[in-house]
Amino acid sequence: MSAAPLNQPLAALPDAAGPTDVPLHVGLIMDGNRRWAKARGLPRALGHKAGVDAVRRTVQASADAGIGWLTLFAFSSENWQRSADEVRDLTGLLRIYLRREVGALAKNGVRLRVIGDRERFGPETASAIAAAEAATRDNSRLNLTVALSYGARAEIAQAAKAVAAEVAAGRLDLSAIDEAALGRHLSTVGMPDPDLIIRTSGEQRLSNFLLWQAAYAEFVFLDVLWPDFDATHLDQALGEYRRRVRRFGAGSG
Ligand code: IPE
Ligand code: IPE
Ligand code: MG
Repeated sequence: MSAAPLNQPLAALPDAAGPTDVPLHVGLIMDGNRRWAKARGLPRALGHKAGVDAVRRTVQASADAGIGWLTLFAFSSENWQRSADEVRDLTGLLRIYLRREVGALAKNGVRLRVIGDRERFGPETASAIAAAEAATRDNSRLNLTVALSYGARAEIAQAAKAVAAEVAAGRLDLSAIDEAALGRHLSTVGMPDPDLIIRTSGEQRLSNFLLWQAAYAEFVFLDVLWPDFDATHLDQALGEYRRRVRRFGAGSG
C-alpha cells in the first residue's frame, strides 16, 4: 500500500518513511478528555492533563512505529467557544507543554510544527511556539505537527484569499489556479497528505480537521477515550490500516 499522492510541493522529504505498510502520515483527533474525567468523578482539567500524558506516550510510540509524520488535533477554532475556565485550563496546559517538553522533543529527533491561528493564544505563547519550532527544526526522525486554534474551512478560505491576491497582483493567471496553487497556501504546505486519520472517543466525524488534505485518508475510529490511548491502541489502528485496500479512484487495488 502506497502513501497518498501529494498535491503540494514537498519541501521536506521525510527520511523516516519506514516499511510501506506503515502510514507515512498519521492524523490524530484526540477526543474524550472530559468524558474520561467525568467517568472518574474528576474535575475536567484533570482529564485534559491526562490527555497531555497521552500525547507524550503517543509521540514516543509513533516514532518507535516508524511513522514519519504525526499531526495532532489539540485545539480547534471552535473550541474557543468553551467556557472561559476551560479555555484557560487548555491554554495553560499548552504553555506548560511547550516549557517542559521541547527539550525532550529536540533530544529525541522530533521536529515540532504548529498549524492554526497561534496569535490567538497571545504574543507570549506565540513566541514560545516559534522558539520550540526553531529549537527542533533540524530534526527529522518524526515530524510532529500540532493543530492549535485550527479549522480547516478557515485554512481553505485563507488559501483562496491568497490565491486571489496573486491573481489581482498579476503574479498568477486565472487559468493557472489548480489544486497545487491552492495547496501552496495551506498551512500544511510541504507535508504529505495524511494516509490514516484516527479519532478516539467513539465519535465518527472530522470536526473541521484537515478537510482538504484528508481527501484519500483512511479513517479508524476507536472507542478508547484519549487519556487512555497508548501504544496498543496505535498498533490496533495501524493493524486496521494494513488491512485496508487503497484505490485512489483508480479501480481495483
Ligand atoms: C478533547 O477532549 C480535547 C479538546 C477538544 C480540547 P474533549 O475536551 O472534547 O472531551 P469530550 O470529547 O467532551 O469528552
Ligand atoms: C475535536 O474535538 C477537536 C479536537 C480534538 C481538538 P471536539 O470535542 O471539539 O469535537 P466535537 O465538538 O465533538 O465535534
Ligand atoms: Mg470532544
